[in-house]
Amino acid sequence: MQTLSTTSLQIRDNQLWVLDQQALPQKKIWCPTPDVASLVEHIKTLRVRGAPLIGLSASLLLALLAEQGMPRAELAEALETLRASRPTAVNLMNNLDRMKLVLTQDNYATALTEEALRLVAEDKTLCDNIADAGSTLIVPGSRLLTHCNTGGLATAGVGTALGVIARGWQQGKVASVWVDETRPLLQGGRLTAWELGELGVPYHLICDSMAASLMAQGKVDAIWVGADRIAANGDVANKIGTYSLAVLAQYHNVPFYVAAPHTTLDRHCPDGSAIPIEQRAASEVTGVAGSFGDVTWAPEGAQVYNPAFDVTPASLISGWVLDTGVVTPEQVTAGVFQPRV
Ligand code: MRU
Repeated sequence: MQTLSTTSLQIRDNQLWVLDQQALPQKKIWCPTPDVASLVEHIKTLRVRGAPLIGLSASLLLALLAEQGMPRAELAEALETLRASRPTAVNLMNNLDRMKLVLTQDNYATALTEEALRLVAEDKTLCDNIADAGSTLIVPGSRLLTHCNTGGLATAGVGTALGVIARGWQQGKVASVWVDETRPLLQGGRLTAWELGELGVPYHLICDSMAASLMAQGKVDAIWVGADRIAANGDVANKIGTYSLAVLAQYHNVPFYVAAPHTTLDRHCPDGSAIPIEQRAASEVTGVAGSFGDVTWAPEGAQVYNPAFDVTPASLISGWVLDTGVVTPEQVTAGVFQPRV
């Protein structure tokens, strides 16, 4: 396969390499990803993370395995193993459905490579379109708040919600960004802070629990988050903590926007209650782990509840910014995300 390079994925020497997002920002480590087991491990440990990136990495690996001569039946099995690596982000399923269709072709090896590269190229364009559409909603002088990480690290392009924020900054409309640290895995504190720093966008890192008082003080002009799955009624699954921000936003009259590509849309999922929510290890809550070391503070045997995502009901969302443009609550109520007939 041709060489390829995004913020967090590379193809070199016919091999997939992923940037270890658990080691960032302290260390920049590129991990070789020669087989399905290694990618599943990277995805489960969140070295590879973010809804679009998971789907793209799985598609690229399948294409490489096909080029290396893996037979069709084994590729089909590999595809299903990758599909099961994380349950909530539907981009993985949507991308793999496209790869599965291509796998039925006679020249499937060449066709899988073309399809995987097309998915990467498309994702870049989707991100740009989201950034263009979303930045029109940013009022000059805005202080924006974001949660988790939705930037170039999580996509093949400029990102989704963070791409909107960066575009708004380039247009001179963003005054500063409040970055939720995003417990338990600190995607905000480690990744979004790092990406904004690289882009030169002024930000303040805050603990998740500080967002409420900032809104009460009138210091948040809008909230921008990404999505892992958007249901047909507009409900959105995203990183745990997103729902509480949406409730706070409504109480304080702060616009709450969701930015995502159409590959995050699940028209067959009627509402948020049907979205599978990943439950994760207790150790993520009893302490922290990372390139800075491992710390445990909870007493031994502490019982833990650790869902990775929550669901924000459509009624709390001011607008869904897709690559196709801004979708309003009225359009969602009228059924714009419902299955097409
Ligand atoms: O568990 P993660 O880090 O994969 O969760 C990521 C998020 O919740 C993002 O907001 C979402 O995937 C959108 S990334 C463009």
